[in-house]
Amino acid sequence: MTDVQNQDPKTQVEAARKAFEQEFGRFAAFAETSAPVSTSLSLSDAETEQRALAEVRTRHLGKKSALAASKKMIGRVAADERAAFGQLVQQNEAEITAQIEQAEQFLKSHIESTRTAREALDVTLPGRRPRRGHLHPITVVRERIEDIFVSLGYAIEDDREIETDFYNFDALNIPDNHPARAPQDTFYTTDGFALRSQTSTVQIHAMQRRGAPLRMIAPGRVFRRDTPDATHNPMFFQVEGLCVDRGITMAHLKGTVAEFLRRMFGVQTVTRFRPSYFPFTEPSAEFDFSCFKCAGKGCRICKNSGWIELGGSGMVHPNVLRGAGVDPQEFSGFAFGLGIDRMVALMYGLDDIRLLFENDVRFLEQFD
Ligand code: FA5
Repeated sequence: MTDVQNQDPKTQVEAARKAFEQEFGRFAAFAETSAPVSTSLSLSDAETEQRALAEVRTRHLGKKSALAASKKMIGRVAADERAAFGQLVQQNEAEITAQIEQAEQFLKSHIESTRTAREALDVTLPGRRPRRGHLHPITVVRERIEDIFVSLGYAIEDDREIETDFYNFDALNIPDNHPARAPQDTFYTTDGFALRSQTSTVQIHAMQRRGAPLRMIAPGRVFRRDTPDATHNPMFFQVEGLCVDRGITMAHLKGTVAEFLRRMFGVQTVTRFRPSYFPFTEPSAEFDFSCFKCAGKGCRICKNSGWIELGGSGMVHPNVLRGAGVDPQEFSGFAFGLGIDRMVALMYGLDDIRLLFENDVRFLEQFD
């Protein structure tokens, strides 16, 4: 027999009660109805406490508890003490049960409300707006140019950026000793291909593929070993134009370029042609248009000249037509080429075309 079993029944009940109170100490705060426990108890801590409390319940109210043993003893105590002892046991059981139930109740509702709060959705919170992109200014201007030429009956050609010497130079009537062929001017791949230095290469592909008559524009990237500065990039965009048909003259070239610029910059726009030289056109001309800002009076944009230089043009050289399989006796054509980047810089008031390719979102966001 153990010491506890040797004690008198009343002492045993009191010892059991003490043991309960000691163990229940950590849960006591949960059973205080007037001042409920701090709400800082986390969900997982509350769940741990709930499991621990269930063990306390089994230990102190279960079949093998000291209390269950005391109940069995009621019949065995002396008759004159039985009523008082029975009352003591009952009172003990009622108090322990009440305290455990209060703590259980508290934990149960705390767990429920914490779970509900955690799963709650605040439908009044504003949603997260996805960041919307927009077109790059070069794309915007390129698409405007395309729209104008499509409305004039031109097709849009898209062609390769890596070329053989034949397309980049020979077929464009560029002589063997021309400086543009030098590696100082043109980028070459290690296996001898050239990154096209102008979109004029597309003239040849288009004529070979479609034959004559033909009207097309070809926007795209070109590459030159130019040192970057405010008006030069080693990679930039050009748009090529080509019209080949019977009886095409310089007047068609001038009329087409003038109409394009009027649609681009307004009906008041005046175009002028200056004699120039390109190996693939004869005669050749560079073209300028009256400044869209000051209408030719002179301002910062046109550097006080009243004119903005845009590109090169001319009548397609018979050698080029012949080389691309078009009979120069039957057909003639005009071609032109202009740089988009400098045009964009002028239109958007940028002093440096390098900004267009730095991919600084703070800069690009201005063009939304
Ligand atoms: C040509 O490239 C000719 N292929 C144009 C042409 C086409 C003439 C058809 C006749 C017939 P040019 O080298 O001038 O021409 O270049 C045309 C435009 O490209 C220039 O007016 C300029 O706007 C732009 N450009 C040239 N180099 C650069 C550069 N490094 N960075 C940005 N833009 C450039």
